[in-house]
Amino acid sequence: MGKTPVILSADAETKEVFRRMIADTADAIIRSYDDNTAYSGKDVYKLREDLNRLGFLPEKGTGFEETLSTVEKDIMPHLLRTWSTMYMPHLHAPALTETIASELIIGTFNDSMDSWDQGPAATEIEENMIHGLVKLFGFGPEADGTFTSGGTQSNMAAIIAGRDWFCKKHLNWDVKLNGLPSCYGKLRLYTSEVSHFSMDKTCHVMGLGYNSVRKLPIDSRCKVDIEKFEEMVKQDIDDGLIPFCAVATIGTTDYGSIDDVAAMRRICDKYGMFLHADASYGSGLVMSSRYRSRMGDLSLCDSVTVDFHKMFLLPISCSVVLFREKSMQECFELHADYLNREEDEEEGYINLVDKSLQTTRRFDALKVFMSFRTRGKDGFASIIDTAVENADYFYSRLIADPVFIAPVKPEISSVVFAVIDGDEANKNIRKRLMDEGTVIGQTSKDGKVMLKFTLLNPALTHDHIDKVIDRIKALR
Ligand SMILES: Cc1ncc(COP(=O)(O)O)c(C=O)c1O
Repeated sequence: MGKTPVILSADAETKEVFRRMIADTADAIIRSYDDNTAYSGKDVYKLREDLNRLGFLPEKGTGFEETLSTVEKDIMPHLLRTWSTMYMPHLHAPALTETIASELIIGTFNDSMDSWDQGPAATEIEENMIHGLVKLFGFGPEADGTFTSGGTQSNMAAIIAGRDWFCKKHLNWDVKLNGLPSCYGKLRLYTSEVSHFSMDKTCHVMGLGYNSVRKLPIDSRCKVDIEKFEEMVKQDIDDGLIPFCAVATIGTTDYGSIDDVAAMRRICDKYGMFLHADASYGSGLVMSSRYRSRMGDLSLCDSVTVDFHKMFLLPISCSVVLFREKSMQECFELHADYLNREEDEEEGYINLVDKSLQTTRRFDALKVFMSFRTRGKDGFASIIDTAVENADYFYSRLIADPVFIAPVKPEISSVVFAVIDGDEANKNIRKRLMDEGTVIGQTSKDGKVMLKFTLLNPALTHDHIDKVIDRIKALR
């Protein structure tokens, strides 16, 4: 193949070696698609021992050809194959083909999103995508947002912005300038007891602690109980506490349940609170004319998390946080002489670091641009509809069979269920399936072990679902 070039250049020989490197990599990837199991089944200790044997930092490099061959032989067979129709445990999806190509472009150019001079076209495309997304989710011209590394970071950015907004509006206090107000420890955030743990993490990082997160009881469909929400807010106010923010979940991690944002908005307005929607999972419904209404009107919220590496099937990582008002993200603006000078703005340059927690940041917007352009809304609708309808089918099979319990009717594409034989039987089924290369999820409900299918893969058919149900029954 020739010596591995240090960097790609215009030199003809270097170009040819690079082309071969990419072609050989693509060939290795394509060969691995012949295996449809989700995981090789190799025992955890054996895998660790074998991979440790590959070593760390050799004194002398082996060149790309040998390195790729080692990766193909020793690592790739034991990577998780997200495209497998035998993989359905998590909100973790196979990647759309065109976005794998986007990753190559992103990595090759390596533009950075912090300042215009580090990513001229990249900055403009990210801005275009944000403006389009803001409209897609129903916000007006005052809205804005930024790409982040995932749902956790989007939620964190939104809650930090919500805290700063609340302190300014209701306590006449500028957190960015002065740090935390003296009553800070009294602030409380409200979210469903089945919401994502990133809310707890955020409150820890913000110096409020887990105890500041008020877990709202849920109804039989795993949605926030609105009456109890208001009762808790009132009680907290009576106790001298300060409710500052609520988070509605649009697609809870296990059940895919969707909170009522309109009802939560009414309560937030009544008590002057910020409302964030964690639509990390359910945001994909925006593409489906059939199921979009299940999401509710997210433009009622002050901020929304949209994760593209879940229902939208984009490679990790790719997420955005949108704000109803641009001014809400001003808390992240900070000017540095070396990067985003104030005069840049007057000269028409946009430095996206102004609205982001991160500084150096990937050009993930290209993946959204390329997939939207390649497939259009129609193409995405068909992917989302398939996922929702597969979950409906799976649920209908479970409730028709006395061997299973399935306590929550799916609203999106995840189904939580169990065989009736008790916790140990359910745990064993998951482990036995894993040994056979089928990976399904495990969670709990009301203290009982439950199994979970998260159906994101558009290649899944009713036939696959029937087969896995049969296999589960055989393993009881
Ligand atoms: C509802 C919900 N919110 C947030 C997250 C965190 O997203 P990420 O893993 O992209 O940080 C998840 C992850 O599964 C989730 O299910």
